[in-house]
Amino acid sequence: MKRRQRVWPVVVVLTVISWTLAGCTPTHGKLAPFVPTPQGVVETMLKLAEVGPGDVVYDLGSGDGRIVITAARMFGAKGVGFEIDEALIQGAQDSARRAGVSHLVEFRNEDLMTVDLSPATVVTLYLVQDANLRLRPRLLSQLRPGARVVSHDYTMEDWAPSRVERVRELGTLHDDHTIYLWRIGAGSPRP
Ligand SMILES: C[S@@+](CC[C@H](N)C(=O)[O-])C[C@H]1O[C@@H](n2cnc3c(N)ncnc32)[C@H](O)[C@@H]1O
Repeated sequence: MKRRQRVWPVVVVLTVISWTLAGCTPTHGKLAPFVPTPQGVVETMLKLAEVGPGDVVYDLGSGDGRIVITAARMFGAKGVGFEIDEALIQGAQDSARRAGVSHLVEFRNEDLMTVDLSPATVVTLYLVQDANLRLRPRLLSQLRPGARVVSHDYTMEDWAPSRVERVRELGTLHDDHTIYLWRIGAGSPRP
């Protein structure tokens, strides 16, 4: 029994070392299924965040890439989509090429919970409530003052949004969509 207790920490350390050597990090798994944000809602999210050519938009869980592709196509912003599903990454890259914005956007096959958020000026989310809450400390500690966070349908609980907008548009799950906007700044809660 005692011997087994001594062995486990060694196993954990060896596993982490082998992940590191293999260039991998432990994944948080799929935090939300692929459900696309309707195009009109995408556009309202980006307008609410006042996205412009100087922005770098990170979509965490980018699905078919529509948010960063729209940010580039309509507002001239740079964008990075992070997606765990390789087939969706492939499709997003094809769509970016067709939309003529490949020079502005890229898609990375990365776990959204391990992304360095500090280069982003706008972060977009359409996940689930639990994933938003798990991301919240990272958003608050890594984003710079003035950065915006926009979430489709899910809140950050007691972190009050600076704007809330409702949009009615045919969607995969429902037709009434709520968009929440937060600005990183003096009034933001502690991470
Ligand atoms: C509800 S969809 C939103 C897609 C897109 N952002 C949109 O609004 O149209 C959520 C996406 O997050 C991806 N996802 C879930 N867990 C993830 C993780 N740990 N890392 C990266 N992507 C993840 C899913 O594969 C899915 O494509």
